[in-house]
Amino acid sequence: MKGLVTFLLGIGYLATSDANWICDEAPPLYNVRQVDAGLGSVVVRDKDSNAYFLAGSDWKLLGSIKLKHVTVGPAGLWGVGIDDNVYKYIAGDFTPSTGLSMLQVDAGNNQVVGVSPSSTANCLNSTTAMALSGVGYLSWSSLSRSLKYYSCGPLGCWGVDTNNQIFFAQNVDPSTCSTSGWRNAPGSLIMIEVGTDGRVFGANIEGKVYERTGISTALPFGVDWVYIPMCIGIRHVSYDLGKLWVVSNSGIIMRCSS
Ligand SMILES: *[C@@H]1O[C@H](CO)[C@@H](O)[C@H](O)[C@H]1NC(C)=O
Repeated sequence: MKGLVTFLLGIGYLATSDANWICDEAPPLYNVRQVDAGLGSVVVRDKDSNAYFLAGSDWKLLGSIKLKHVTVGPAGLWGVGIDDNVYKYIAGDFTPSTGLSMLQVDAGNNQVVGVSPSSTANCLNSTTAMALSGVGYLSWSSLSRSLKYYSCGPLGCWGVDTNNQIFFAQNVDPSTCSTSGWRNAPGSLIMIEVGTDGRVFGANIEGKVYERTGISTALPFGVDWVYIPMCIGIRHVSYDLGKLWVVSNSGIIMRCSS
C-alpha cells in the first residue's frame, strides 16, 4: 500500500511556476474525512467519527468523544459531536457546551466560528472562546449570511454557502465578531480553510484544490484562484506552516510542500 500511495502522490504538483506542490504520504491513516492544521498541530476525523492528532509518525486518538468535525488553532482545540453539540478540548478531553448546535466549527483565529445545521454562520468572540474552561453555555453571535462552511484567519474569514458560492467577510473583529459586510468571490468550492498565517485553500465539488492568491494585509480579499493539480480527487484541505494537508475522496491523508 505504501509503495502505491507514494507512486500516486509523487506526481501531484502545481503546473505554474510560482508554487510547486509536491505531495507524499502522511503517516498512514485510512477513511479520513476531514483535516485541520494549526499552530503546528494536525487533527483529523475519520468515517467512524474518531478524532486523531499526529504525534511524530503516529496518529493518536484525541479524546473520547465521537466527532463530526474537529479544529485546532489560536482559539484552542474544538469539535462538533455527532450530537451536533460544540465541544472544547479542556484538560485532555472534549468538554460539551450548551447553546447552538453546529455542524462545523473553526478555531483558526482568536474567535471561534461555526455553521449550524440550518446553515446559519455564527461566531464566539475571542474572550468567550478563550475563557471557556469547563461545561458552559455559549452565547453565539449570528452573522448575516447563510453558509455551510466557514473558516477564519488573521486577515479575514471565508465561507461557502449551500450553492458552493464563496464569500469573504470584510473587517472581521475577533473581539466582537462584527464584520463590515460580505463580498462574493468568483468560483465554486465545497469547503474553504484559512491558515493561521492567512493563506486560503479550498476544494471544489470535482475534487480539485485551489489557493487564493495575492492575499496581504493591504488586500485581504486577494486577487485570484490558482489551481493546484492533484492526481486524485480531494475532499478536504487545510494549510499550516508551509504544509498543505489534503484528504482524498478515498480517505487517504497526504502532506504537500511547495
Ligand atoms: C463577547 O461575548 C460575550 C458573551 O456573549 C459578551 O458578554 C461580551 O460583551 C462580548 N465581548 C465583546 C467585546 O463584544
